[in-house]
Amino acid sequence: MKSLITTSQLTRPALEALIERAIRVAEGGDQDAVALAGAAVATLFFEPSTRTRLSFELAARRLGADVVSFDLAGSSASKGESERDTVLTLAAMGPQILVVRHSTGGFPDQVEEWTGRAVVNGGDGSREHPTQALLDAVTLVRSLGRIDGLTMAIVGDVAHSRVAGSLMRVMPTLGAELVLAGPRHFLPDHHEFSVAGDLDEVVAAADVIYLLRVQRERGASEGKGYHRSWGLDARRAAAMRPHAVIMHPGPINRGVEISDEAADGPRSLILDQVANGVPTRMAVLATIAESLS
Ligand code: NCD
Repeated sequence: MKSLITTSQLTRPALEALIERAIRVAEGGDQDAVALAGAAVATLFFEPSTRTRLSFELAARRLGADVVSFDLAGSSASKGESERDTVLTLAAMGPQILVVRHSTGGFPDQVEEWTGRAVVNGGDGSREHPTQALLDAVTLVRSLGRIDGLTMAIVGDVAHSRVAGSLMRVMPTLGAELVLAGPRHFLPDHHEFSVAGDLDEVVAAADVIYLLRVQRERGASEGKGYHRSWGLDARRAAAMRPHAVIMHPGPINRGVEISDEAADGPRSLILDQVANGVPTRMAVLATIAESLS
């Protein structure tokens, strides 16, 4: 694997190898500690991020790389530098791998074309966020022991979510059944999954309730009464199957798609997802590093 731009490039064996590698790293295998020794990784974030950028940077450092990071606030972009010039400038500093986030779907492909470097997609518009879906898979395997045969309900602003874009490829490839739930204008025009008429119906049946933030920066708005209709609150969390879990990629909007009780309660894997981000990104970067050497 040279770049990781979309999850459509990942077969089931490739996904399973990355998940296993991430779990090995998470459970104390330090065998990759020098996978990127002497190399540099650049993070180029043209859109805000907390979890993704920090965990990529930590992952790169844990593999022995130096990190150079660009983020839009405080950069020369405010002096009128074009995005292409910004990308070429960072690439000229010699990083082997570029981690890119942008509000336009397809921008990471463009970066790969401009620079010829290995590119990892850290989220492009509403299209894909491959390492998020991977870390979610790692979290499920570590928490529930498997993905094959699970029913996952993806709830909320599916249409504008790049996380959903990647989950809708990765989870069925790994044998999970997906159900989508949300107001009609939040569901994609074309998809191959079943749609739940209301949240109570899926809450009672699913093994995983995966909530999404309303993507206001992509023109979405939830309107009044969203939390009542589509929010996961304490009553709904109590109605879930005994072993069922709650997931969310963050940032969470408390009182909109999820209540405090559901976000902070015993079923919530939200902070496990964050914790698994580092070993998952280490597995991705180390796998790419092997193909470069
Ligand atoms: C997501 C993103 O940026 O796509 N966050 C993340 O990377 N964990 C989800 C979101 O912003 O809603």
